[in-house]
Amino acid sequence: MTDTPSDDPRPYSPGLEGVLAGETAIALVDGANGRLLYRGYPIGELVEHGTYERVAELLWTGEWTQEAGLTPSPVPGPVLSALRSLPVGTNPMDAVRTAVSMWGSLNRPSWPPNAEEARAMTCLAPSALAAFARLRDGLEPVEPEGSLGLAAGFLHQLRDEVPNEASARALDAYFVVAAEHGFNASTFAARVITSTRSDVASAVCGAIGALKGPLHGGAPTEVVNQLHEIGSPERAEAWINEALDRGERLMGFGHRVYRAYDPRAAALRKVAEGMGSTTEWLALAVKVEDVALRILAERHPDRPLKTNVEYYTAAVLQGIALPPDLYPATFAIARHAGWTAHAIEQAGDNRLIRPDVRYTGPAERSVPRAAARV
Ligand code: ACO
Repeated sequence: MTDTPSDDPRPYSPGLEGVLAGETAIALVDGANGRLLYRGYPIGELVEHGTYERVAELLWTGEWTQEAGLTPSPVPGPVLSALRSLPVGTNPMDAVRTAVSMWGSLNRPSWPPNAEEARAMTCLAPSALAAFARLRDGLEPVEPEGSLGLAAGFLHQLRDEVPNEASARALDAYFVVAAEHGFNASTFAARVITSTRSDVASAVCGAIGALKGPLHGGAPTEVVNQLHEIGSPERAEAWINEALDRGERLMGFGHRVYRAYDPRAAALRKVAEGMGSTTEWLALAVKVEDVALRILAERHPDRPLKTNVEYYTAAVLQGIALPPDLYPATFAIARHAGWTAHAIEQAGDNRLIRPDVRYTGPAERSVPRAAARV
């Protein structure tokens, strides 16, 4: 029996860093070599030759299909009522989580989760976020257009205007890149919830909660703020040094797994460079990135800190003029494909996820007795 920390000889890795916590056939995140494969296909090729709908089907079924025809679904009345009842200042992540929760109450998803449920949730998410974004601006939601894919359909429902080809393509590329990323915190949360035989809506609600944290999905908004504060390339060096001296982190840099340049950042940088609308902002971003990488390498010679996906996510989302406070929730709607694929995989060979913890509290002792009455 062990009752003090020193009695337990097993190694402990804070944040579970480096710990193998499961097996997956969905994606390979090769941090040392900066590779990301979805079911064997490199992310760069998927961005160039795929669409989010095909990639989502690939994640759910393992098959590459040319037929994937997912389009945004109408928001069911009770989900819309729930969105209408939210305070105007609600965090958009909370709005998506509320929509998923209400969808779960209406549809009572089964256990084990299946691809049909995954499709339904992934097709609802863009419509729900667009509806909330309009409602908070005092506008009525827009009905989905059946001929548009999920990224283009999201923009259409947000603005009541069919997006131009370049914006639709850029957002679709972002959706592909954001769809899946191994055992990140939100996906792990989804798998833990699924492992209890809870339903896929509950798993996605938990995942959204995990993604909401600034260390995970909140970074692109911070990247925009960071670049606004820096303002011009000449100010980059001083601003970065001062921020690091204050103990702050540079948003859009560093990653738990990648020690090489994040392949998603590379793919999105290419997309951003192809978008005419981002030129000035992108030039600043590229310059700040160069300076940041040099300073981070000088300050952390033993810990490679490279650009992560969020840095160029900010460039792409800025290029299509998405309001920065919608960035994390846009990430959440794109990640629905990965979360639900992991829920299906977890359920396929399920074992309750319940790790051990090292106890660091007092050794066994007696509760103080009440003082004797006099
Ligand atoms: N800026 C400055 N220093 C950093 C940064 C950064 N962005 N990231 C890590 N470091 C430093 C840490 O201060 C620490 O230094 P120390 O050893 O002197 O204390 C060292 O590098 C190691 O950092 P850890 O916290 O151990 O790294 P961890 O793997 O836990 O962190 C994380 C990964 C959370 C992404 C981190 O790099 C970070 O906070 N980055 C900024 C936020 C960000 O961009 N998040 C998006 C991540 S991508 C995604 O979630 C989709």
